[in-house]
Amino acid sequence: MEHPLQAWRDTLEELGVMGLVREPAAVAKEAPPSEPSPARPTPRPTAPPAPRPVSPAARAYAPPSDPIGCPTPAVVAGAATLPALCQALQGCLACPLGPGRMKFVFGEGDPSARLMFVGEGPGRDEDLLGRPFVGKAGELLDKMIGALGLKREETYIANVVKCRPPDNRTPTPDEARACLGYLHRQIELIQPAVIVTLGATPLRELVGVQEGITRARGQWRRVLIGGREIPVMPTFHPAYVLRQYTQEVRRAVWADLKAAKEWLDQAEAP
Ligand code: URA
Repeated sequence: MEHPLQAWRDTLEELGVMGLVREPAAVAKEAPPSEPSPARPTPRPTAPPAPRPVSPAARAYAPPSDPIGCPTPAVVAGAATLPALCQALQGCLACPLGPGRMKFVFGEGDPSARLMFVGEGPGRDEDLLGRPFVGKAGELLDKMIGALGLKREETYIANVVKCRPPDNRTPTPDEARACLGYLHRQIELIQPAVIVTLGATPLRELVGVQEGITRARGQWRRVLIGGREIPVMPTFHPAYVLRQYTQEVRRAVWADLKAAKEWLDQAEAP
């Protein structure tokens, strides 16, 4: 049977990062307590810039005009837990994506995850299963999370829109904004220490950054949600990584994820 660490090594090789990281035997989680502790991550020289007080996307959120099946903003704000919020949203028809969905894809993971990923919207597999990132892009996301030394269930994974856009097109700004209040409430409840945005859409809709992802990736941003500033690390969408499977792209994503993990580890340091 394949040694469990072999899969981890394979993932790093796929990401093009073997040689840049410690050998599996020296990974912190595997090391016996008596071993010298692994080197602390080097702090990023620059802290994330100050957040915009309220992102333009947040300002643009408009409550649904047709209340049939849609939770009012007061219901969304009053949902005290993720399951309660998920339940309240099940009948949502706030935008044209609602009637076309098979399943509402709320998001999943640790309700108090320190690391949260935000993608664009469900694809075919996600629409069928009602779970985020379960197709090919999700497989790669799982591997990337594993390469960080985490399990998928230790993170939280959500999308800007909760219903599948037809033909997997990018959600329109109106569709994204109809759903944005739901994502904000999820973030308020989870209170992640770091958010990693996957691709241009969550960066634009959640953080208000219009710049292309190729230029914007790897640069810390912040969002102010529920009175908390949350550092945001933008990176490429895993589907883009699969399409552009070059070492340059894979290394870029790995650098972004490592930066997010280092921030997380520092934030957790006593
Ligand atoms: N792409 C996304 O942005 N989200 C998913 O859940 C799946 C694919």
